[in-house]
Amino acid sequence: MTAPELSPRIASLPKAELHLHLEGSTEPSTARTLMARHGVKVTEQEVRQRYAFRDFPGFLETFKWLTSFLCEPQDYALVATNLAEHLLEQHVVYAEVTLSVGVMLLRKQRPEANFDAVLRATEPFERRGLRLRWVFDAARQFGSEAAMAVVEAAKNCSSKEILAFGIGGDELQVSTAGFRKVYDRAAEIGLHRLIHAGEMGGPEKIREAIELLGVERIGHGIAAIKDPELMDLLAERKIPLEICPQSNLRTGALARQLARENVRMEDHPLPTFFRHGIPVVLSTDDPALFHTTLCDEYAGAAQMGLHENELDQICEMGFQYAFQPAHKAT
Ligand code: ADE
Ligand code: ZN
Repeated sequence: MTAPELSPRIASLPKAELHLHLEGSTEPSTARTLMARHGVKVTEQEVRQRYAFRDFPGFLETFKWLTSFLCEPQDYALVATNLAEHLLEQHVVYAEVTLSVGVMLLRKQRPEANFDAVLRATEPFERRGLRLRWVFDAARQFGSEAAMAVVEAAKNCSSKEILAFGIGGDELQVSTAGFRKVYDRAAEIGLHRLIHAGEMGGPEKIREAIELLGVERIGHGIAAIKDPELMDLLAERKIPLEICPQSNLRTGALARQLARENVRMEDHPLPTFFRHGIPVVLSTDDPALFHTTLCDEYAGAAQMGLHENELDQICEMGFQYAFQPAHKAT
């Protein structure tokens, strides 16, 4: 099947993007600039190979490798500036961007200094119609103590622009219950709660996240396609899934959930979720690492068979389910 063209009207709609990692937005050319800054010689070919992982462990390896070149506040500022420019090109007017603060702490960096540099770099984009808000993220495999330190870092930054706490990384490690106190603390200091669940893990990971951690949106959640009762619950409670189709294809998450080797965009459960009444917000996850843009994701959704009026509604949901009411006018 040939991909239908995305209508120029949908492409140019003002959009909100709610699942997007700053580090994963680093284009290969920017990665090379960072490496040069830190005296590391890497060929263009090697960078290209690193960006061509074939499965989820390969993706995590590349993410780790890439973040090892984010050494100081000015590195974060460069990546943030480039991301903001890129978002404006995609007609994004509001984004909730995830920062891997767990990784910063692991590398003994000061999240406050990195975050301050990111804020300074992106503040001028407000005048150009782009509002960015932030999610502080822990890596699941680093455990609950490290996750608690991320929540405390969010508190120490004392910025109204940090809206939420989330967990990403390897979903198959560390029990969900182990993070209960961390999410209670996040709620206590006024943060919204997110988690990556049902990306590589099963539907039970989504249920646990809702029931044990009180999360308000689910990162990915595509495993819900295997559990009709869970789909009903998501629809009834209006718990949004942050859907990132290219990511699911490139990490092998979709193939894993569908238990098939060869899956295509047309196999993605997004239309089923949407037509079941589950709120969905369409996002890129790590746009540079997954070789995608937000408009590509809308084109992918059209390829799945979603009609233009449905794409309109999905676009609207990006604003409806944002943690801060967004003004769409640019
Ligand atoms: N960190 C960045 N992108 C991620 C993803 N898709 N899953 C888990 N952790 C991530
Ligand atoms: Zn993600």
